[in-house]
Parts: sequence; C-alpha cells; structure tokens
Amino acid sequence: MQHFEIVGGNRLKGTIPISGSKNAALPIMAASILVEGETVLHNVPDLADVRQLQILLGRLGVKAERDESGAMHLRVEDEMNTHAEYELVSKMRASVCVMGPLLAKRKRAQVSMPGGCAIGDRPIDLHVQGLQALGADFEFVNGDVLLRVKKLAGADIFLGGPFGASVTATANVMMAASLAAGHTIIESAACEPEVVDLANYLNACGAQITGQGTPQIAVEGVETLTGTEHRVIPDRIEAGTFMISAALTNGDLELEGGRIEHLRAVVDRLRQVGVIVERAEKGIAVSSARRLEPVQITTQPYPGFPTDLQAQAMALLCLADGNSMITEKVFPDRFLHVGELNRMGAHLRKAGPTVMIEGVKKLVGAPVMASDLRASAALILAGLIAKGTTRVHRVYHIDRGYEAIERKLAGVGANIRRRDD
Ligand code: UD1
Repeated sequence: MQHFEIVGGNRLKGTIPISGSKNAALPIMAASILVEGETVLHNVPDLADVRQLQILLGRLGVKAERDESGAMHLRVEDEMNTHAEYELVSKMRASVCVMGPLLAKRKRAQVSMPGGCAIGDRPIDLHVQGLQALGADFEFVNGDVLLRVKKLAGADIFLGGPFGASVTATANVMMAASLAAGHTIIESAACEPEVVDLANYLNACGAQITGQGTPQIAVEGVETLTGTEHRVIPDRIEAGTFMISAALTNGDLELEGGRIEHLRAVVDRLRQVGVIVERAEKGIAVSSARRLEPVQITTQPYPGFPTDLQAQAMALLCLADGNSMITEKVFPDRFLHVGELNRMGAHLRKAGPTVMIEGVKKLVGAPVMASDLRASAALILAGLIAKGTTRVHRVYHIDRGYEAIERKLAGVGANIRRRDD
C-alpha cells in the first residue's frame, strides 16, 4: 500500500488544471448501455472509480476504451448479461447507475445491493421506487435487486427521500424514462450539475428531457438513442478542494477550467471566511492573505453547500479565529475525519449531525488515515498547513476520486510525495 508524505507550511501559488467530473462521467458512461452506435467522451478523469466502471461495463458487454488522446469510446457489443455482481458493485457504489439503463434497454436488471459504506447505510429504495413507478417488477434475490419489465411506461414520480433528492436515483430514473413509452415527470429531482450533464448527453443522443437543473424534470420517451460525442463538465468538488487548499496556505491559485457558477454556496462561505474568490479568465482565482473568520456551514443538496466538501471545509475552519459549526444534512454520519483532525491538534466536538469547531493557532503533523474519499482529501489539506510531517495512509481512497492530486499540489509548491508503506 501507499501513503502521502506531506511537509506542511508551503504557500501554494500557480495554476492547477481542473479534471473532468467523476460524478458526471460515471452515470454518462453507464448511460452508454442505452445507446446504439458509438459514444465518444472527452474529459473523463483517469481515476480508480472510472477504471472500475470500465470493468463492470465490459462484463455487461460494453466495450469502453480510451484512445491515444485520452477520449473514451463506448459501444455496446453484447446485450446478454444483465447482472452487476457483488464482487464489482461492492467496490464502488456508483455501479448502481447501470440499473436504470439495463432495465430500459434489456428489460432486466439484477444489481447487487451496494450495502453499507464508510459514510452510512446508503439505501437504494428511491432508485427502486422510481423504476417500479415506470412499471418494473421488483424482488430481492440473494442480496441482489432484481427488476424486470416488458415495456416501461412513463409516469408521474415523486423522488424525494428523508434527506431530500437523490443524485444517482434521479440519474437512474431519467435514463430509464428516456426509453419508456410516453411522458414522465420526476418531481423532487436532484438539481446537481452532474444530473444536468447527463441530461445534456442523453438529449444529444436523441432523448427529450427538459427541466434538468430544476426539481421537476420532464422526459418524453423515445424509441432509440444514438451515440454522440460529449465533453464531461469540470469537477466542482476537485475545484472546491483546491480552493480550500489556497485558503489554508495563504495561497494564490488559479483553477483552470473551474466553473464558479457550480460553486456558489462554497464561494459564499469562503468569502465569509475572508478568502478572495473571483472569476478568472480561464477559471477561478482564489487567494487569501487575511486571517480566517469562523462561519457556520450546513450541507444540503445542490445548490446548497455540497456534502462532498464538508470534510475539506472542516480542515479549513480548524484554523479560523473563533468558533465555527458544521451541520451535515445529507449524510449525517459522514464525520470519519473528526477523530483524525483532532489527532493533528484540532479542537472538534461532534454532537449528532453537528461538529463544533474551536479554532486553533496551528495543526501538527501526524500519521493519519481515513476511510473515505473526501475525508482523505481533508487530511491532505490539513497536512499542507500542519507543522512538521503528516502521513496520510490508505491512498487508494484518494485515487478513487482525485486525478494526480500529489502532482497537481506539488506543481504549485506543496511538499507532498507518494511513498510505499
Ligand atoms: C452522489 C454522489 C456523492 C455525493 C452524493 C450527495 C455520485 C456518483 N455520487 O451519491 O459523491 O456525496 O451524491 O451529493 O454522483 N438516499 C435514500 N434513498 C435512496 C438514495 C439515497 O434515502 O434510494 C439518501 C442517502 O442516504 C443520502 C441522500 O439520500 O442521505 C442523498 O444521497 P444521494 O444523492 O443518493 O447520493 P448518491 O447519489 O449515492
């Protein structure tokens, strides 16, 4: 196994290119199951999760390969298999995105229940309810969800859950409805830019989707979808993580390709903290020269503050001049980083879904480990400013969702190295 070794204290200065969005690329890759002919995707990040989905798609008869330029070509070659097995699904939750496409195109989808993960139970009841509303029969078979249908039919579907809209459930239902007979309304749909990107891709393939980016999506079913060329949107979570790295190190970064309009809630909170965030010619400019003010943050579905930046924001607020508070309203158990940040000298106290953050003057380097992607990112950020050396173990979590993070950070002055354990 590998770890990152970080010697804190360097000011970050320069330009970081923002990669394509992981959470947009994965459902769009899954959507290729629906499509006749070839899809060519540009800006697909080179990540462990993407490679994992390529393997699953391969098992499902979809050839998914990159050319020399890095573009990914996807083409269905065999429609026999409709089973996404535990061995693959358990490695990556987003595998659940094949459920809607398999059902719509092959009339049968057997997908292993993803099970619990480090950030909570993560049920898939909304996915199943939405697909049942389109006419699918549902049963459990050996820990798998089995959905079958003769012909999907459009329906009015309410997709809100106890924690609001679901991103991948909206994706699954929207993909299935694209090939259903008639008109579908998805009410309480997720508004995330990644859902909009998927809808734009499907529309370019011939789907008739409107309302993407709002809580009500309308889909007029079509007979066939035809492959197209599409460029995946930039990763707003990666951009947000690097924005926070600039804020923490008194840095001055330009995030090339970053879209400020996808990060309004984050920009709002960072400006409250005293960080300077501006639209730049090629993306987003972030600098910070003043002291950090404490703030309150509540995570919410888009356009609210993203849960995928909660851990990183906590690393920042550890060093604010006063007491901050973060409340998690999307995944109330997502606090694996709290204990690790405390080991680096933070003063954090968790009470239910809220963490009270008492700002400290400095963090100190330590060996740390986190068991999810964004928590690991938060520990790297803390390491960038901590006194001494921090070792962040279990690098494979980071490799799931950040493309070449150590190269990007080292390129703007961070002292970070990947090492074998
Ligand atoms: C997606 C993102 C993930 C992000 C999350 C929230 C991808 C591949 N992953 O995950 O990075 O953290 O959105 O922005 O895009 N829920 C239910 N029933 C369901 C489904 C979800 O109750 O059937 C609940 C969840 O437990 C959670 C909330 O709804 O509390 C939102 O989860 P959801 O939007 O579904 O997350 P994902 O789509 O899995």
